[in-house]
Amino acid sequence: MRFPDFEMERMQSAWEHRVRYDLSESGVEAQTLAEAARDLDALGGTRLGYASGTGRDVTRSLVAEFHEGATAENVLITTGTSEANFLALATLIEPGDEVIVVMPNYMQLHGIARGLGARVREVWLREEDGWRLDRDALRAAIGPRTKAVCVCQPNNPTGQVLTRDDVRAIVAAASAHGAWIIADEVYRGAERDENESPSFSGASDRVIVTGGLSKVYGLPGLRIGWLVAPAERVTRAWEMKDYTTIAPATLSELLAEIALSRRPALLKRARFLVNERWPILERWAATHSRALHWTEPRAGAICFFSYTWPVESIAFSDALIKGYSTMVVPGAHFSAERHLRIGFGMSPATLRSGLAAIDRLVTSLG
Ligand SMILES: Cc1ncc(COP(=O)(O)O)c(C=O)c1O
Repeated sequence: MRFPDFEMERMQSAWEHRVRYDLSESGVEAQTLAEAARDLDALGGTRLGYASGTGRDVTRSLVAEFHEGATAENVLITTGTSEANFLALATLIEPGDEVIVVMPNYMQLHGIARGLGARVREVWLREEDGWRLDRDALRAAIGPRTKAVCVCQPNNPTGQVLTRDDVRAIVAAASAHGAWIIADEVYRGAERDENESPSFSGASDRVIVTGGLSKVYGLPGLRIGWLVAPAERVTRAWEMKDYTTIAPATLSELLAEIALSRRPALLKRARFLVNERWPILERWAATHSRALHWTEPRAGAICFFSYTWPVESIAFSDALIKGYSTMVVPGAHFSAERHLRIGFGMSPATLRSGLAAIDRLVTSLG
């Protein structure tokens, strides 16, 4: 089993604590421990033994509440959305299976599928159509050999959202061939308006939804995620989890319960932050309107720009890191050359300084 390099995560892992202005981050600004705990003293008596392998019933029920048709037995608490994605595919895919990935996409499911020996087929959202799904292309791609269709809803890197009709069309096409849907919904709840993105949960009996606290809730450091699926899939994932992380981190799970029981307040916080900070990025982009093209993001704290500057995206991001201590994600990491993903969920001061650094790099390109 050989996994391809996960290029974006390799870059972020190497640089996110070394650059001064990290605009590669895709979630909203992180909460402090005191904010997350509400009452820090109350945690003092927690005994730091192993947590329950599946996650506690109370945590599972809190997650089930915002997944249509789910109860606690349909939920496995994981170490981040990352582990949920890994377990979802690793318990489903055999070498030679076909996996469809709706692109562009956070490349984790894509890389895991290839690592497991699957053949990956890409179906691209249409950039010229505001990154909308081409339903005909998707229907044409799914066939009897398709084991799973992977989608990111809302989408990373574009910040766009599949409509209810898109969700229905994907479910119908997958069901017609008995294929599973793996929907990474880690950005669901970070919409800029109050309409939560349509979820795949409950849409058929072959759906696995993954998510976590890293983006919307501002708690990536807790490393808490979940997998929501038919009970038999949860059991399979739990069995494999014996080999990966055994159980969630006890303290993180307690803080997760606090966050999940305050879900409406934390979604409001996320909405406030993305709406406060998107205009900063949008105003900056407008000053480069001859070189940049973009579709306004609907969810998440990221925008995916195409550009006409005379440099490839990896050279651009390398120059930005090494010359200006600033990081954005090169489009090449999403197989989309001449694009950049720029985050806007960080503090306005960091965002403005990082954008000023990009200005200086662009000026130097002549
Ligand atoms: C779509 C998507 N899924 C999963 C992850 C990883 O999430 P977590 O920190 O919960 O493991 C990310 C992080 O960028 C992401 O963008």
